[in-house]
Amino acid sequence: MRRRHLLLAAAAAVGGALAGCTDRGERIVDPVGRPDVATFARVRAELFIPHCIACHNTAGEAGLDLSDNVAYGAIVGVDAVLFPGWKRIVAGDPAASLLYIKVAASGQPGSRMPPAPAAPVDTVLVSLLRRWIAAGAPAE
Ligand code: HEC
Repeated sequence: MRRRHLLLAAAAAVGGALAGCTDRGERIVDPVGRPDVATFARVRAELFIPHCIACHNTAGEAGLDLSDNVAYGAIVGVDAVLFPGWKRIVAGDPAASLLYIKVAASGQPGSRMPPAPAAPVDTVLVSLLRRWIAAGAPAE
């Protein structure tokens, strides 16, 4: 019985060490203690599905479909439709990525995404998007 408690305590310590922080210091608490890695699966689940696909779906507002099975191919290395000279995502370079610029506070060119009256997405999600792009925009 005692041994079991020790094992549980050790597991909790490892889980705590793996729970990450964003680069602004907010703590991300993952219920099963996975590391705070900025994957494309998280960008889809935490940003695109709740905040974007109401408009950017197969109907394709601004020619952009962020539905799960097509989102990656529609953004990484792809030219913007409405904003000549921009790519939607430049792997490794958030500042050159239109999709990041429109979600981050500056929002320009065009409107901030999601557009008003929706509130801007919170800074933890902006950070997730920036870290995913900076990591080379991996497909997983
Ligand atoms: C209420 C509808 C709506 C929602 C929700 C929305 N958008 Fe948009 N989006 C638009 C409209 C309208 C435009 C074109 C006008 C503009 O860019 O200012 C646009 C344009 C864009 C463009 C430019 C596409 C191109 O190739 O020119 C990107 C990138 C974009 N949105 C990303 C997003 C992301 C990411 C989200 C979620 C965080 C989002 N949008 C949420 C309506 C929406």
